[in-house]
Amino acid sequence: MRVEHRGEWGSRMGFIFAAIGSAVGLGNIWRFPYTVASNGGGAFLIPYLVALLTAGIPILILEFSLGHKTRHSAPGVFGHLNKKYEVVGWFQSLIAFSITTYYIVIIGWAVSYAVYAITGAWGADPKGFLFGTYLQLTDSPMKLGGLNMKVVIPLLIVWGINYSVLRIGIKKGLEKANKIFMPLLVIALLVIVVRGITLPGALDGLDYFLKPDFSKLADPQVWLSAYGQIFFSLSVCFSIMYAYSSYLPKDSDIVNNAFITGLGNCSFSLLSGIGVFSVLGYMAYSQGVSVAEVSSAGVGLAFIVFPQAISALPGLSRVIGVVFFASLIFAGLSSSMSLIESVVAAIRDKFDLTRNQALNRFTLISGLLSLLIATRGGLYILDIVDYATNQYGIVIAGLAELIIFGWFFKTDSIRKYANSLSDFTVGKWWLVCIRGTSIILGLMLFLKIKNTIHNPYEGYSWLALGIYGLGVLIAVSIGAVILANKKASKKFQEAIYENGIGNEIKLDENKD
Ligand code: ALA
Repeated sequence: MRVEHRGEWGSRMGFIFAAIGSAVGLGNIWRFPYTVASNGGGAFLIPYLVALLTAGIPILILEFSLGHKTRHSAPGVFGHLNKKYEVVGWFQSLIAFSITTYYIVIIGWAVSYAVYAITGAWGADPKGFLFGTYLQLTDSPMKLGGLNMKVVIPLLIVWGINYSVLRIGIKKGLEKANKIFMPLLVIALLVIVVRGITLPGALDGLDYFLKPDFSKLADPQVWLSAYGQIFFSLSVCFSIMYAYSSYLPKDSDIVNNAFITGLGNCSFSLLSGIGVFSVLGYMAYSQGVSVAEVSSAGVGLAFIVFPQAISALPGLSRVIGVVFFASLIFAGLSSSMSLIESVVAAIRDKFDLTRNQALNRFTLISGLLSLLIATRGGLYILDIVDYATNQYGIVIAGLAELIIFGWFFKTDSIRKYANSLSDFTVGKWWLVCIRGTSIILGLMLFLKIKNTIHNPYEGYSWLALGIYGLGVLIAVSIGAVILANKKASKKFQEAIYENGIGNEIKLDENKD
């Protein structure tokens, strides 16, 4: 049974723009370069591509198929199989909720920096400028230090944009916004790449970025980072792609769309990597040091190293600065909208609320929580929540999803369903990828827990890690149990609990 009036994409292109828009985000421009740098440069690319082909694209096919078939967001998709699994869908949705809360703040920083770039406000000391002048960082995660208006104002602007677009709806709001942001992002990245590769020293940067180092393949940490990066970057396993594909018209291609989204996202990452590393190559060249040395700034890479590199450019430095931060804003907004939409869809589906009712509730709660990240101690909270949600939350959500649909569902029926709708089909290798990835994720999680116990993340105190890291994961879990057990609307009960698809997709039913 299908739930009506949820909204639908206006065209296939509209869906593809939105899916790539969701995938391409801060993950590609803010996170990808420093993840590459902290995993030994080009060493990272092989595990990254393996993770894309064996996990990323197969999971996209899984999520597109289930979203399309059930026409529901994550809680409904899992509830279709069995009411007791609905909690996994809520867990995924609340992970998206937690990510939104800090993700929006980073877009806010990018808004501030796009303005600072006009005058090169960070001067000769971008690090001091970021932590001192701009963030006014306290000396401990336990000291919030009050609201920082320099962050609060751009944060409100970013919330305002997200809210206004999402209020309009799927076709006229989300789809249109993505059709504007994505081309702008491509232009911005091309400007950076062309400027970057024409600089002296650029080749050293590219060499560091692209040269494979096979010896690193034996390091499990590199593989962990590659899978984590792929999940975050493709927006899989935290409810987004279920919601987006639930708005697909009935006759939509699945397999092709999944490949276009996966490969499109990867191309954006490579493009931004080429731009960023050629600029870093120039910086290393002008300072007479190695590329590895200049690119070791972790999460600050986009807001410390890049501003420094921009200041050092021999020409067009102000323009490149504005364009770089504008690209973060375009990429960030199209992803933040998808994060919010996935939770709004979940709330609407289950409680039969209007779009505005669900959006108002979400914006109020997430908006208030994001103010915590806009305090002077907010960077610490952001860093710990980001670590907990990405390294644990998404992995746990992905593991649960792959165990449920890989082992407790007639998984092959999903493949047959996807094939029945698609121009080109996938073979049994898809099944192997889904089941194999569940085993790899299980191992990853085990290794990760072991590693964190021995080396607390970034040397933070256990108290801070407990409150902001474990605390968020516990809150997400409790929230998921509460929402899964809350009484559903009649519409949801009928569609999901009474007429769910059970543990297989029956092909003939689809022909109605
Ligand atoms: N997929 C989004 C990103 O990469 C969340 O930023």
